Amino acid sequence: DWTTGDFIEEQVQLIREQVGDSHVICGLSGGVDSAVAAALVQRAIGDQLTCVFVDHGLMREGEGEQVEKDFVASTGVNLVVAHEEERFLNALAGITDPETKRKTIGREFIRVFEAAEKQVLESVAKEGARVEFLVQGTLYPDVVESGGGEGAANIKSHHNVGGLPDDMEFKLIEPLRALFKDEVRAVGRALGLPEAIVGRHPFPGPGLGIRIIGEVTKERLDILRKADAIARYELEQSGHSGEVWQLPVVLLADVRSVGVQGDFRTYGHPIVLRPVSSEDAMTADWSRLPYELLAKISNRITNEVDEVNRVVLDVTSKPPGTIEWE
Ligand code: XMP
Repeated sequence: DWTTGDFIEEQVQLIREQVGDSHVICGLSGGVDSAVAAALVQRAIGDQLTCVFVDHGLMREGEGEQVEKDFVASTGVNLVVAHEEERFLNALAGITDPETKRKTIGREFIRVFEAAEKQVLESVAKEGARVEFLVQGTLYPDVVESGGGEGAANIKSHHNVGGLPDDMEFKLIEPLRALFKDEVRAVGRALGLPEAIVGRHPFPGPGLGIRIIGEVTKERLDILRKADAIARYELEQSGHSGEVWQLPVVLLADVRSVGVQGDFRTYGHPIVLRPVSSEDAMTADWSRLPYELLAKISNRITNEVDEVNRVVLDVTSKPPGTIEWE
């Protein structure tokens, strides 16, 4: 029988044996998986770990701060932050194809990560040590969906698995590779991570970049960030957050529809709400959230986000729909 205590003990031992006196780096995404993987490795080897957080500007409201403040406060981990919004926006300019977006974000991410990594290597090398390992918060469903599992097709290129360069010089430490999300949360709680991090809904590595249907621009990101913050806040307040696996909020940036506000005709963008219930993200059903909650989210978004004049609900299960729209 699986217990979190045994799992942590076992992994701590394994990681210590594997790492010896080398140094280890870990990319934080702001999500649960990388946070728990980092906290576990931190438990095993302490200061031999340095975390790197690439702020690609595709985060949701408040997410960067959560990594920079809450995670560091609860773990005491060494953290290097790279603020690179402009770089990612430049790289994404003109791109509308979903897979091209994912590959572009993945590629830029690795470049920035490598530069930040150099910084870490230099500081560690001063103490005369080597950096030999890279931690990744890969879970079992990531392994399967990226074609790592038996007979699985490559459905979307998840950038935390498939996007690594072939000439990568690090050995991987993937302590969560056999776990599902609920097990990862249990491990995170046992490691003392705050509920705000452990209870977070999953968020894709490419961030809001794959929730804007159409080209990704700063203006569009700001629109989506506002709508997303409202939906997340109201879901949290309603007490229904625990029933929902995640609630992607998607901006149909290339679609416009006619509306009316006060005495004026509007011609704005639709926002899609995609609340889903799932055990492991491999299959999902659309969540039957209360109408009152959906109405509140819709009213607030159309009232408070100028460019949005319509909110629609995605009622598709997975399959045939994926959870994310891209
Ligand atoms: P789909 O859209 O494939 O999503 O049904 C399944 C789950 O995976 C998340 N997702 C990602 N997570 N990197 C990640 O770390 C990615 O590139 C990525 N793409 C999708 C998605 O949010 C859902 O929970």
